[in-house]
Amino acid sequence: MSQVVQSRRLRAVDLARYKDEGRKIISLTAYHAHTAGILDAYCDFILVGDSLGMVMHGMESTLPVTVEMMIVQAQAVMRGTSRALIVVDLPFGSYEASKEQAFLTAARVLKETGAGAIKMEGGAKFAETVAFLVERGVPVMGHIGLTPQSVNTMGGFRVQGHSPESEKALMADAVAISRAGAFAIVMEGIVEPVARVIATAPEVTALTIGIGATVECDGQILVLEDMLGLSDRAPKFVKSYGSLRAHIEEAVRGYAEEVRDGRFPAIEHTYPPRG
Ligand code: KIV
Repeated sequence: MSQVVQSRRLRAVDLARYKDEGRKIISLTAYHAHTAGILDAYCDFILVGDSLGMVMHGMESTLPVTVEMMIVQAQAVMRGTSRALIVVDLPFGSYEASKEQAFLTAARVLKETGAGAIKMEGGAKFAETVAFLVERGVPVMGHIGLTPQSVNTMGGFRVQGHSPESEKALMADAVAISRAGAFAIVMEGIVEPVARVIATAPEVTALTIGIGATVECDGQILVLEDMLGLSDRAPKFVKSYGSLRAHIEEAVRGYAEEVRDGRFPAIEHTYPPRG
């Protein structure tokens, strides 16, 4: 029987070593202490993604998510874990205005949560910001391709890389973010052959983490609720590894029936008098 050996929490630099050793990097999102605690033994990093706005709060996009929301959920994830690197998304509006704004937000997130890295969306145009943060001690994960915070300018949640111009821009983004010192780049919603070229390009030195991209990435990430079959609907790239929605419904139906029929609580679910 294999045993999970608990050790110190992983850092961004450890993941680069994993790649050198030929190990794929495993990641999922989590927003809660209990789910993060389950993931901890299996994931190298756990992303507290701003997808929490849509997944937990039923928002139509990630745009309304605030820094305070990210901090509260990241604190919960930190409490529930001891091994995985915790990466926290910088939400829309908290880093784009200037590199100084980005640093102040990132520093606040790392100080108030104890997480080990931040993630920010955007490619070449944020390379200067990435370098500014890295020089000041903030490990940065980039995010290119389908960047949900740009839903309004992209005209929807659109897969990227269909045209030669788009392919060129994506490659330029990955190279610029790598050169700026990002330790990893999430590549989301990019047509497979283009994602493959980017993930295997020697100039892309940052670790590539795919989501709707290619198996050639150095690692993969999915939104936990999507892969568990808990979300109402999930993107095409999600493989369902569970059917939690059906299980929850079955459990809730059973509970409702038993309460209605007076079968719950049974005597063993009540407290006998003392003595
Ligand atoms: O917010 C998020 O969950 C993400 C993943 C989809 C990578 O950015």
